[in-house]
Formats: sequence, structure tokens, C-alpha cells
Amino acid sequence: MRVAGRAMRTIWLGADRCAVEIIDQTLLPHELAIVRLTTLDMAVRAIRDMQVRGAPLIGAAAAYGIALAMMADPSARNLDEAVAALAATRPTAVNLRWALDEMHRALAILSEGERAAAAFVKAGAIADEDVAINRAIGEHGAALIAAAQRRKGAGARIDILTHCNAGWLATVDWGTALAPVYRAFDAGIPLHVWVDETRPRNQGAGLTAWELGQHGVPHTVIVDNAGGHLMQEGMVDLCITGTDRTAANGDVANKIGTYLKALAARDNNVPFYVALPSPTIDWSLDDGSAIPIETRDPREVTHIAGWSADGVRREVRLTPEDSTAANYAFDVTPARLVTGLITERGVCPASRDGLLGLFPERRRLGAA
Ligand code: MRU
Repeated sequence: MRVAGRAMRTIWLGADRCAVEIIDQTLLPHELAIVRLTTLDMAVRAIRDMQVRGAPLIGAAAAYGIALAMMADPSARNLDEAVAALAATRPTAVNLRWALDEMHRALAILSEGERAAAAFVKAGAIADEDVAINRAIGEHGAALIAAAQRRKGAGARIDILTHCNAGWLATVDWGTALAPVYRAFDAGIPLHVWVDETRPRNQGAGLTAWELGQHGVPHTVIVDNAGGHLMQEGMVDLCITGTDRTAANGDVANKIGTYLKALAARDNNVPFYVALPSPTIDWSLDDGSAIPIETRDPREVTHIAGWSADGVRREVRLTPEDSTAANYAFDVTPARLVTGLITERGVCPASRDGLLGLFPERRRLGAA
């Protein structure tokens, strides 16, 4: 996507080909800072501290983290240790495990002399595949937006509600939930996005609003609790969110609060779609009950950070000193509340049969 008119991805190989560069998402929307990662430890920290975040981007960053580890020490033991270190960074997004499995499978069979170069090639392929997948999700999802627009009437504006950031910043490029938005917008369909602020880390207010603005997409940031009211008032035509892990039955884990939006959407007959690349499907899970839900530092709830008028980042406390806080980062929306899953192969019902219809090879391979 474009930032100030310049095409950018969220992660790329440095010009010297021995470092990986990322956008530091903890500083957006106030500062566009590029960070060079040169070691496995830096990659681990970048994922854990959410300089890079979003399920597909976490996977791509982990793949590059393995390449950095192989550059330093291509032994089989270091490969195993690097996989373990990266796997421990964030628990919910299954793309992390998927990318690490892909890297391990590709590299374990090679000699030490071959590993580093092959690791960079494989990580680049994972990143490129993410871009291609998301572009296809955009096409399938844009067709849904176009159909909603035809139903609403010529020239009518389509209002889409999204939660968290499932845009290009959460992937290598295009995004998942926002890829259809960008495609439809570029095709000239009049649309507007309601952006949930997404407490506690405010990925909606900070990241989704920023990237939509860079692309010129009309949008309005709302507090997390506003969506239900807007749906009651007929101000939302459809919801589209991303997911960090989708079970084989179509249950979807996504940023905390997604479930409540799905409930409100069902009560108000608003279609609720979830966009996902196939590496987000965890075929080993029959349903969403076993999806690990990340809990994070309560300080993300008790404090809030922003930029003061003099351009300095400041953190302030919101809660009484002695109040405890709990910080659940994800929730699971049952498949029955999901109107459809938008994948790179098309749109399907959120069900085992729906997913297997699009990915029939999984039927032959078995669930896992
Ligand atoms: O905690 P985050 O910011 O990594 O959470 C991101 C989300 O929940 C996204 O909606 C999800 O990864 C789908 S993204 C393409």
C-alpha cells in the first residue's frame, strides 16, 4: 500500500541483504519509524513487544527471524532453539506456528552451509505468498461489498464496521479485513468505514485510522461500545473483521471485543464476515474452545499513551492506583454468528463443510 504516495510493505529485506526492516507499529500514527532487525533476539522482541503485530505479519516476521538466526549459526540445534524462542512470543495467532513449521521443514533437510541463504529465500516466499493471498481475499470480499451496494441502490454509500487492525499493517501488504475495502474503494464503490478504537492498545484508533487515511478511504473512529447503537440505527451495512486463529468448524478467535460485535450484528441482521488467509486456519482444532487466549500486561489497561501537543509521547494512568486490571487480548466468536468466511479461494459458510469445500485437500490429509 502507499504511505505519503510511496509504495511500502510492512517488512522487507534490507538493501545489504543481512538485515530485515520493519515499520515500528508502536510509534504509529505519530511517527513512521523504520527499524532494522539484525539478530534473532531483535526479531523475538519485535514480535513480543508488538513493533510488528497482526497474525499474518507475525508469521512473516518469525520466518525472517529464523533467517537471521541461521545467518549467525546455521546448526540444527540453533534452528530448533530459534523456532522455540519465536514460538513463545505470542500464543493466539496460529500463523506464527505455521510459518515456523514451514521454515523448519524447509531448512532441517539442508546442510549447514546451505541454510542461511535458503532461509532468506523461504522467508521471502512466505512474505510474497501473504501478499498474493490477501490480494485474492480483497477480490472476493470486494464482490460482497459490490453486491451490498447493488442491493442498497445506485450511488448509495456502504458503511462497513471493522474491529482492531486487520489492514495492511497486520499483514505484509493489503490486509485481510481491509483488503476488500481497498479493492472496493479503488473500484469506485462509495463507502465509509466505522473504526472501533479497540482498547486497550487502540489498534483501530492508531493503525486502522492511519492506514485508511493514507489511502484516502473515508472513515470515522468510534469507541468500542458504539457499534451496537450504530447497528440499531441502521448505520452499518456489514461488518468485516480479521482473525488470529480459525478452528476447523469456523469458530474464529480475534481481538477482544469481536464477539460482542458479532452478537450485536446478529441481533440487528447485519452481515458479519471474517476475512482470513488459509495459514490462519488451525485444522487441528475441532472448535474454538481450545484456542489459547493471550493475556497481556495489565498496565495496557490501567494506563494509556498518546502524543502531547508538544510532540512528546506521554503515558498517563487511567485507573485508581490500587485497582487491579485484567487484560484478555482475544475472544472467540462462535461460527454460528459468522455470516461467511472470506478466504483467498472464495467465500464460504463458517462451518467444517464450508471450509472443506474450499480446501478439499484437507479432507484427504485429515483434520490436522
Ligand atoms: O494483538 P494484535 O494487534 O496482533 O491483534 C491483531 C488482530 O486481532 C487482527 O484482527 C488479526 O491478527 C487479524 S489480522 C490480519
